[in-house]
Amino acid sequence: MTAPGTVAVTQVPMNDLSLQHAAIRQEIDAAVADVIGSCGFILGPRVKAFEEAYAGYCGVEHCVGVSNGTDALILTLRALGVGPGHEVITTPHTFGATGEAICHVGARPVFVDVEDAHLCLDPELVEAAITQRTKVILPVHIYGHPADMTALRQIADRHNIDVIEDAAQAQGARQGQATAGSMGRAGCFSFYPGKNLGAFGDAGGITTDDEALATRLRSLRNHGMPLAGPKFHYDELGYNNRMDGLQGAVLGVKLPHLEGWNEHRRQIARRYAERLEGVGDLQLPAEAAGARHVYHLYTVRTQQRDGLAEFLRGVGVSTAVMYPMPLHLTDAYAFIGDGLGAHPVSEEACRRILSLPIFPEMADDTVDYVADQVRSFFAN
Ligand SMILES: Cc1ncc(COP(=O)(O)O)c(C=O)c1O
Repeated sequence: MTAPGTVAVTQVPMNDLSLQHAAIRQEIDAAVADVIGSCGFILGPRVKAFEEAYAGYCGVEHCVGVSNGTDALILTLRALGVGPGHEVITTPHTFGATGEAICHVGARPVFVDVEDAHLCLDPELVEAAITQRTKVILPVHIYGHPADMTALRQIADRHNIDVIEDAAQAQGARQGQATAGSMGRAGCFSFYPGKNLGAFGDAGGITTDDEALATRLRSLRNHGMPLAGPKFHYDELGYNNRMDGLQGAVLGVKLPHLEGWNEHRRQIARRYAERLEGVGDLQLPAEAAGARHVYHLYTVRTQQRDGLAEFLRGVGVSTAVMYPMPLHLTDAYAFIGDGLGAHPVSEEACRRILSLPIFPEMADDTVDYVADQVRSFFAN
């Protein structure tokens, strides 16, 4: 490793998928060859097999493979009858897709601030935001840490509304014994390549125990065609939101490795914590009692975020700010009318967050290098 003060030769990326793929290349090649051989390019047996395996992994009855995580959210809201005149409570501290999906079905996002410890939707603020128009609470398991689903479900049950998990960043996260995707009416996943479980392109999935919902989702993803019955008959207006056979094949190969990969992420997080606890004003990611954080991102907070990012860039360490602005302060959501100060915890977090490199194949000495560089920034 490069000693402080010398020219950096080490380059640490945020993620390096080529390492992951090298380890499973033969399995992937065989699965892809099978799809090509069978010409099962859209849905098909590999997608079906993955859906069954992923439903089992999450501990639910059904998984519906779709085109990406954004479409997973849109289809689920649509299938639950959410539309014009309805409100969906969600967090402003998320990727744009969460709010976008609500708007694209014609409903209105109602942003509620996050709690400070994990930056997930704050249950203590949710109840006051519920109105006659509220149909769904849509928490996001941000960075791989589960939102407090127990508290959110209790509130939802009191008001007879649904909870849908945006679990795009949280494959394998748990609260108690429950896995992300099994804790609400439905769980929406992204299998974007860089996710803890990632495809070789866009892909997504919806998990649920609700058979009628799963059936409607399977029809909606395929132009509203009934699952059984005459072809080119349309029960309702649907979409082309099917998962590709090749993505199902890749995901099917990767799924058995997910637990091991998540464990490695957790080991890296522990190693960072051992080296960074008490350094400068750093606030390290926390794990709620009984929760299993799967560290899609290892996000620290500091008042000196921009300086730290700049310093790390100089010594070859990539970082990311996810996300630099809460949704309510972006131009796309100006129509909501939530100005600066409306959601102070999210706003303050966006000024201080910085994600450090984390991926399962990251070697211990690379983790130590990053931690050493962070320490030397604060030492100076
Ligand atoms: C929290 C969250 N929700 C939704 C999505 C959308 O997923 P996709 O990119 O597969 O459409 C993402 C993707 O990054 C995400 O991070």
